[in-house]
Amino acid sequence: MVLEIRNLDLHFGALYVTRDINLTLPRGARHALIGPNGAGKTTLVNLLTGQLKPDSGKILLDEQEITRLPPHQRARRGLGRTYQINALFRSMTPVEAVSLAIAQRDGNALRVFGTAALGRRTGEEARELLQAVGLGQYMNHMTRELPYGVQRLLEVALALAGKPKVLLLDEPAAGVSTQAGDQLFRLIDSLPSDLAILLIEHDMRLVFRFAKRITVLVGGGVLVEGTPEEIGADQRVRDVYLGHKHAA
Ligand SMILES: Nc1ncnc2c1ncn2[C@@H]1O[C@H](COP(=O)(O)OP(=O)(O)OP(=O)(O)O)[C@@H](O)[C@H]1O
Ligand SMILES: [Mg+2]
Repeated sequence: MVLEIRNLDLHFGALYVTRDINLTLPRGARHALIGPNGAGKTTLVNLLTGQLKPDSGKILLDEQEITRLPPHQRARRGLGRTYQINALFRSMTPVEAVSLAIAQRDGNALRVFGTAALGRRTGEEARELLQAVGLGQYMNHMTRELPYGVQRLLEVALALAGKPKVLLLDEPAAGVSTQAGDQLFRLIDSLPSDLAILLIEHDMRLVFRFAKRITVLVGGGVLVEGTPEEIGADQRVRDVYLGHKHAA
């Protein structure tokens, strides 16, 4: 298993936001995490990336425990997530931003624009990655001037620049047009088959298209995990979440 979550708990006072969560992702997983607002989905992502520390339980990446490691060490070991593009990246072109992310991955952040050979190699890798994710035509534009949907694609490209083994996507298409969302999901469909992906998404059309397995969170705990067919047919899931949103 590339990612293992064992008996993870987090509470704020009497409120359990993460309740005895067990979840495993094999290499190449296409796993969706769904559940109503406030179910604890984003909290779980923050526990995985190290923004939050659990009260008890374990997280293993590639069989090694990472439960108490700081975020940058988890990233270096292959845990990738998307971040909103920050002010620094907004003032760069995509090729510059991705070059910087590649250099950070390789521990060369301070030198990337220093030596010509290093800069050339990094720039080449950045351009290839941007072409691969369909951003070729935008790569030399100023990022802050790009359409919002394109910026969201760039966020995925920046996460991929770290060469992750596990990619965490928390509502990647939130707030974008249907067309931009479809483009984003075509990109997600085209990602390497050995990359394990954990996706949080409210649009059930996208969830059922993407996922091989689905975990339903409610009140911080796992209500049920199964195949899309099993989840779509589960009466409890329909009662608490799916309702009429998904006509399976
Ligand atoms: N620092 C905190 N202190 C107290 N409660 C918190 C804290 N952070 C999160 N919570 C609570 O944890 C619960 C889970 O929130 P979380 O953001 O993980 O839900 P979510 O499943 O991602 O919801 P959404 O679908 O709306 O994004 C919520 O009830 C939230 O109010
Ligand atoms: Mg959330």
